[in-house]
Amino acid sequence: MISRTIEEALNKQINRELYSAYLYLAMSAYFETANMKGFAKWMRIQAKEEQTHAFKFYDYIIARGGKTNLLAIEAPKSKWTSAGKVFEEVYAHEQKVTGFINSLVELAIKEKDYATFEMLQWFVKEQVEEEEHVSEILAKIKAIGDVPGHLFYLDHEMGKRE
Ligand code: FEO
Repeated sequence: MISRTIEEALNKQINRELYSAYLYLAMSAYFETANMKGFAKWMRIQAKEEQTHAFKFYDYIIARGGKTNLLAIEAPKSKWTSAGKVFEEVYAHEQKVTGFINSLVELAIKEKDYATFEMLQWFVKEQVEEEEHVSEILAKIKAIGDVPGHLFYLDHEMGKRE
């Protein structure tokens, strides 16, 4: 059984992961309209990954005898001015998510909930990977030049993500 405090915090995290999925889907749609199909595909896969993150928290709450509480998902914005601007925002967003995960870890320690602490370790590692991947893409965009014509090859590379 999880405490009400942990249950509430994990339910909030379900919402944040679903918001991340929504945000990345909006970014995917932006790339579709910009005719950058590779970036659009990469973002769409990222949106799906965020859904699986939400479901991990959802399943965990149920496994621990808690109650899930699905909160309203905020609408993301729909316009960006370039691929670089999108990835700057993704990077900032992932750093924010890392902060949320770290706060959950601190809460699990405070509440002496070692099972939740253990479950969260997967997310601690995942955030390291996500920040690393996104900062690499951002660096590539900056090196190549943040204009669609220059990004043609990178768009092709991004489209290889499965
Ligand atoms: Fe679910 Fe991108 O963190």
